[in-house]
Amino acid sequence: MLKKLVKSLKPSSTLLINETSKKLEDQGKKIFKFGFGQSPFKVPNDIVEELKNNAYQNKYLPMQGLNELRHVVAKYSSKKLNSNYKSHNVIIGPGSKELMFLLHVIFDGEIILPAPSWVSYAPQAILGRNKIQILQTKRENNWFPTGAEIEKIILKDKNKNYLLFLNSPNNPSGQVCDKLSEISEIAKKYNIIILSDEIYSELTFAKNYKSISSYCPEKTIISTGISKWCGAGGWRLGYFIVPDELNDITNMINVLASETFSAVSAPIQYAAIKAYENDHTKYIEKSINILSSVGKYVYLNLKSNKVLINKPQGGFYLMPEFLNSKFKTSSEMCENILNETGVALLPGSDFGFNSDKMLARLSFTDFDGEEFMNKISENQNIDDHTINQFAPKVVEGVNKLKKWSETL
Ligand SMILES: Cc1ncc(COP(=O)(O)O)c(C=O)c1O
Repeated sequence: MLKKLVKSLKPSSTLLINETSKKLEDQGKKIFKFGFGQSPFKVPNDIVEELKNNAYQNKYLPMQGLNELRHVVAKYSSKKLNSNYKSHNVIIGPGSKELMFLLHVIFDGEIILPAPSWVSYAPQAILGRNKIQILQTKRENNWFPTGAEIEKIILKDKNKNYLLFLNSPNNPSGQVCDKLSEISEIAKKYNIIILSDEIYSELTFAKNYKSISSYCPEKTIISTGISKWCGAGGWRLGYFIVPDELNDITNMINVLASETFSAVSAPIQYAAIKAYENDHTKYIEKSINILSSVGKYVYLNLKSNKVLINKPQGGFYLMPEFLNSKFKTSSEMCENILNETGVALLPGSDFGFNSDKMLARLSFTDFDGEEFMNKISENQNIDDHTINQFAPKVVEGVNKLKKWSETL
């Protein structure tokens, strides 16, 4: 009496690894939590204070989101992306994840998912009853699809509708896409919609973030929110920016919102106004300084002739590939790593890679971000000694993983 389609899905693997790690920890084993990725930093004080001040807000808010919040988000995004979005282009949701799910429900066609892609895209596409086309990407292309690779999929059947998911900076690869122009040309040529998941964009290490919306604004839905840059994943607030040309999508998401979650929690929406109205440049710069330094440390200390890694360019992750023929699947390998070293990683197969590719996602956020941020000064050069001091588990875990890789 239960739907087979839903029964066939497993709980999101990122949450599962967290639970397994906790269980092993309860048994007294030291676990290096490199599997689960969430911001190590606390929410900026001005935003927390605003949430406290708005605890009394008890009214249902408009289904598309609080007007004032949509206004500041449109202004912030227009400045960041050098565009001209208005509040009617913004949809506030309980996390961008929920909005993406609603998009899958609305869209009728095929979903192009470049592998690696975030763990929830594929299950959501399945729940939305859309067919998935997985596109295996290559290391030399920064693990992003090329325009030609996307075109090859479309040419199999030009008459279908396509929705392409693009996530830069990427979870799990930590890479930034440098093929936006050629991908946008394909989107224009074949009338493809792009869901550009820009949730890590504020945490791009090289200060030159480019969105595909700059190349084909009329085809791009931007998806982002406060979960990553603002350390507020648990607050559950994200948003879409939908161009006027895709106004039907906005209207349909509004209908689905009104019939499901109604509106995002009122106090959270009032507090989020401050997230986009006030200047958090210093907080973000410090976050980037810490994340890029810790990421670089992991990259330099783990890579070898047996471990291939692209240097992380944004966000919390990097994606080592372990050259060996010992294991049949990447999940078998990650299980072995967890048991032998206590290091929790997620297997590449969870992100759409063929399971015989020995890739894993490593999240380098197992440290106290509040302490790290408070103890360093602005623009401080974060050397190995500082990383040892404030991110000791990252150092120890990487050491263990490196030793493990030498036995391959
Ligand atoms: C790539 C990516 N997209 C979207 C999300 C979901 O973010 P939200 O908290 O806005 O639902 C995450 C969070 O883990 C993510 O890593």
